[in-house]
Parts: sequence; structure tokens; C-alpha cells
Amino acid sequence: MTNNKNDHLLEKKISRRQMLKLTGVGAAGIAIGASGMGGILSTFGKDWLVEDDDSTAKNKVNFYGKNQPGIMTAAQSNIYFASLTVLVKTKEELKQLFKDWTPLAVKLMNGELVDQTTNEMVPPKDTGEAMGLDAKNLTLTFGVGPSLFEKINFGDKKPKELKKLPHFPKDQLQEDFSDGDICIQACADDPQVAFHAIRNLVRAASGRVSLKWAQAGFNAIPIKNGKVETPRNLFAFKDGTENPKSQKDADDVVYLQSGESKSWLTGGTYLIARRIQMHLETWDRTALDEQDATFGRHRDSGAPIGKKNEFDAMEIDRKDENGNYIVPETSHVFLAKSVKARMLRRSFSYASGVIDKTGSHDAGLLFISFQKDPQQFIDIQNSLGRLDKMNEYITHRGSALFACFPGVKKGSFIGEALFNTL
Ligand code: HEM
Repeated sequence: MTNNKNDHLLEKKISRRQMLKLTGVGAAGIAIGASGMGGILSTFGKDWLVEDDDSTAKNKVNFYGKNQPGIMTAAQSNIYFASLTVLVKTKEELKQLFKDWTPLAVKLMNGELVDQTTNEMVPPKDTGEAMGLDAKNLTLTFGVGPSLFEKINFGDKKPKELKKLPHFPKDQLQEDFSDGDICIQACADDPQVAFHAIRNLVRAASGRVSLKWAQAGFNAIPIKNGKVETPRNLFAFKDGTENPKSQKDADDVVYLQSGESKSWLTGGTYLIARRIQMHLETWDRTALDEQDATFGRHRDSGAPIGKKNEFDAMEIDRKDENGNYIVPETSHVFLAKSVKARMLRRSFSYASGVIDKTGSHDAGLLFISFQKDPQQFIDIQNSLGRLDKMNEYITHRGSALFACFPGVKKGSFIGEALFNTL
């Protein structure tokens, strides 16, 4: 009986050997320039792309699956989020880019360098800063923005939901933190591993994409008695308490099911990123009971106001003896919960220096939500509208929407269903 794992390795070896023979080089790497990987991969087609994900790397998340990693995956401590502008002009060239990225993404998520070969005469093919680190639970999540469909002809494959989000009251959006043709979300339990992944994917696509905007973010994840707790945002509130937790929840709220949108998105989802500045200086002058009233939860325990524990039911209809709502009607949670829509929130804090030389922190939340329809976000954001007490303390500075592909099957490549037209 043949061993599958070895079959894969053999296939890989043959492909490499073929490649060397055909390029006429004696050692892997010579004559392959810094951005040459793409060209070589294009020459050798799909065989080269056969990858083995039976890696036993430490702290790794599987790349392959029904849905992409980095969505329902337990949140890691760091993110490096990149929004890219596409420079190629045709669907074929873009398809090749995603084909080229696929084996690199597998390697990166397995904690491997994108290429191990070294040659002193040329720049190293992997930038190297993740050497000696394990996979650190790296996840890579790929999506496409509405603007991509204006640049590249995909026929009728653009879903009607994939369009710029509407303007919301109090939005002060900056182009520098908004939109993009492609997104890559890299999350890991190490900032350098997340950054390394984006750096190497962008480098391998040199001349085919350029960085539009990027944002690093972090979360501190407390562990108590061996149990992972909800991280706190920069207002010190537990953030992520009420979220879909089961696969059924995820299928209802997050992942598109067959027939719910264009078929290439079955198993996919919409990612919304909002760079939200949090005015820490104003917040730090606010009394604790006012802070609790802003969210509708107690800061320290995370419990709904009037209750003890973080996961006690948030019953917004509860009233006191005078008939007043116990959870204030203008609180963030009251308003977020007043509409039917739900979403998966997977946000990270950021601190990016000083804003406009005012001496204030440029810090806040890289809010990221996943939902099967952007309307879920729109409904909740409209409910928060002008009423949300938290508005006094935040300003939305950036906004982007991407349709994230379904997961990748072994032997396939990222986004295959979008490119392979019927
Ligand atoms: C800086 C901006 C924001 C901060 C600091 C923030 C913080 C929080 C906190 C502390 C909670 C309560 C704990 C939890 O369930 O996670 C919460 C809940 C929630 N937030 Fe936000 N949030 C922000 C922006 C947003 C935005 C833009 C949306 C969507 C448009 C949103 C939607 C929600 C939802 C749906 C809940 C759960 C409500 C429920 O209990 O059902 N948040 N947020």
C-alpha cells in the first residue's frame, strides 16, 4: 500500500527536479530573482502546487478546509492586516497570482520559510525574520474588494452585496485606511510571524500588487486556571463576549450556504474592517459608572449591568422598580442587540503613534467583523447611529469590505471557484 504522505513528497521532488532541469540551473535559487518565484510557478503549473499539509509543525492551524482559517479560529494575539491594489490587468494573471500564493500560504502556516535554498550571490528568497520560530498559529485569510471587479472582468460574478458601505453619521473616513482590491489578514500569536507572512506574500507578488494600506494590531489574551478568557480592548472592557461560538451559529451568521449568493462564495463570508480611533484621553477622564453605562456591562467582570458574570444572559428588556431599563437605552450593547442581525467580531487593538501632532494617541480598534451579508453590519451600525453613548469616545477613520473565499481543498488554490468560470 502506498503512503499518501510520501506520494506527495515524491511528487514535490520530481517537480523541483524538473524545474531545475528546465531552467538549466545547477542549484535551486540561482537565476531566480527576488520576485521571480511567480514566473517559475507559472511555468510549471499545477504539479508544482501539490503541497503536503500533513505537517506536524508546532502550533499550526490547518490551511485546508471547508472554510478559510482566521475566521472562526480562536483569536490569536496579533494581526497584520494588508489591503492591496492589483496591478495586473487580466483574470488569467490574477488567477496565476492566487495559484502562486497558495503553496506559500501553506508553508507559512506550517511555520516554514517560503524557500529554504540559499545562495550568497542573490537576495535570500525568504526574508528570514521568522527563522527559528514555530507556526505560532498563523492564519492567512484572503478576500476581494468591490473595486477589483471594476478593474478585472469577471462577467456576472460580482455579488450585488459586494459594494462600498454606505456613509454612516459621524464617519470621518480617510482614503489612507479604506478600501482595497484584495485583503490578506494575517493573525498569529507573534507580531513578527504575522508581519513576515504579509511581507513575503507581497514580495512574491512584486509588480502584480502593491500595498494600499496596512494595520498591525494586538490583543492580550488572559489565561485563568488553564482557560482562555475574553481579551480587553483599550477601554479595558472585555471585547468578544457575545459572538457565534458553534459551527451551527457560524453557518447561520457567518458562512454563506449554497444558493445564498454567487456560487463561488459558498463557504465564504464578508469581512468588514473599520479602523476606529478611540479617544483614550477623554475616556480616561470618565467615571467608572459612566464607563459601565456606555457599554451596558460592568468593566471588571464583563457582566451585563446588574448581573455578576460575563456570560450571564444580556436581557436588555429588564426594568427596575421605577420602570427604567437596567441596561441603559443609549448603551452600546443595548443598541447593538436591539436589531435582529448578528455578526462574528474578531477585532484587535492598535497603537500607531501620535495623531496629527496633537499629543493624542493614535490608538483604537481595528474592528473586524465577519457576516454572510454586509447588511448585518449595516443594520447594527445604523442602530448604533447617533444614539450610541460610545460615539463620544470614538471616530471611525477607515472602512473596507471584502468578500472572503471559501476554504481551499488540497490540490486546488485560493479563490479557484471565482476564476474557473462555468
Ligand atoms: C471602538 C469601537 C468599539 C468598541 C470599543 C466596542 C466594544 C464592545 C464591547 C466592550 C462589547 C460588549 C462585550 C461583547 O459582547 O463583546 C461590544 C458588543 C458588541 N458590539 Fe461593539 N465595539 C465597537 C464597535 C462596534 C461596531 C462598529 C459594531 C458593529 C457595527 C459593534 C457591534 C457589537 C455587537 C453586535 C456586540 C454584541 C451585542 C450583544 O450583546 O448582542 N461594535 N462591543
